[in-house]
Amino acid sequence: MKDIARQSMSIKVESMDLLNDQIKMEAKASASYLAMASWCDQNGFFTSAKFFYKQAEEEREHMMKIFNFLIDAGGSPYSPEVTKINHDYASIVDVFETTLEHEIAVTKSIHNIVVKARELGDITTERFLDWFVMEQVEEENTIRDILDMIAVTGTDGVGLQLIDDHIANWIA
Ligand code: FEO
Repeated sequence: MKDIARQSMSIKVESMDLLNDQIKMEAKASASYLAMASWCDQNGFFTSAKFFYKQAEEEREHMMKIFNFLIDAGGSPYSPEVTKINHDYASIVDVFETTLEHEIAVTKSIHNIVVKARELGDITTERFLDWFVMEQVEEENTIRDILDMIAVTGTDGVGLQLIDDHIANWIA
């Protein structure tokens, strides 16, 4: 991208670079949730698979929200290269615990961009990220609720099947 074009953007160059990293993170989340959906389907957790197919779609929507924002701001969004997707999980508990780890990492990353945008005086980027800050509260809360439900249900006997049935409560 030519220097003059970078200067005519309505956001800061540093913000654009961070948002391109965030595009990649959302794409990786989408691909990871698709891998989890595959694991769930293959291991008989069919409702959980539906949950993760939907999560994969939502993460792609998040990616496109940032992508389109960069276009509108006169910037250059990059189509991300996504590699090293894990397909191996020890259990359904491992799948949801890994999901919570992903979401906490995404929250930290979003907060970091908000802080940097504030330091740069980039009000446009800071305001744009308001939606993502609140979305992360919701996403982390959903996964924590699911992990609480798993702890209460237990994984012995019919527990695993009950866990999968209960996941329907979190599919909008
Ligand atoms: Fe788009 Fe769940 O982070």
